[in-house]
Amino acid sequence: MNILVGVCGGIAAYKAADLCSQLVKKGHRVRVVMTRGAPHFVGPITFEALTDHPVMLQALATGHSPDGASAIEHISWAKWADLAIVAPLTASTLGKLACGIADDALTTVLMALPVSKPCLLAPAMNTAMWDAPVVQRNLRWLAELERYTFVEPVSKRLACGDIGVGGLAEVSDMVDAIESTVAGHAPQP
Ligand SMILES: Cc1cc2nc3c(=O)[nH]c(=O)nc-3n(C[C@H](O)[C@H](O)[C@H](O)COP(=O)(O)O)c2cc1C
Repeated sequence: MNILVGVCGGIAAYKAADLCSQLVKKGHRVRVVMTRGAPHFVGPITFEALTDHPVMLQALATGHSPDGASAIEHISWAKWADLAIVAPLTASTLGKLACGIADDALTTVLMALPVSKPCLLAPAMNTAMWDAPVVQRNLRWLAELERYTFVEPVSKRLACGDIGVGGLAEVSDMVDAIESTVAGHAPQP
């Protein structure tokens, strides 16, 4: 399966490297799209080495589709993907998705992702950010669209020292969520 992994600028971005590694080991082809903030946390070279493919960092670039034909990259990557997962999803990118803003590589590719293709969201943030009324409202807005599958954040001791909800789901739980989402979308015999 072709899996697009979106990585945002959150402290849990390093776990996206493990997610990519696990998915590649399971035989999936993986490509990574990063927000502008994400490389402050993990360098694209890590993802390029793990996935054996260049990372997309800019929306305003053209490239080539997998068959070699010239293509607009955000569209060709969205066509290439069978499924997308954003891990970690920051409060900021969550807000952009809720409002239909596509101003970076990740939000632009996700906007171009056909609705027939599953899109999983794994938010991770400080508990106070998670509890912020605007974040909760954005989560409700996204849920109302019935377009996304959430991999819920966990309650734990967070990197900032606070204890509460907002930790990125375990990598194994994200892999399980991908597999059960795919099973749910399989064509019925
Ligand atoms: C050390 C550090 C850790 C951060 N961790 C998170 C986080 O876990 N979740 C989050 O929503 N924002 C976090 N932020 C804030 C985001 O980096 C910031 O909102 C940024 O604009 C997100 O942009 P992006 O969604 O385009 O990557 C963190 C910032 C810093 C400096």
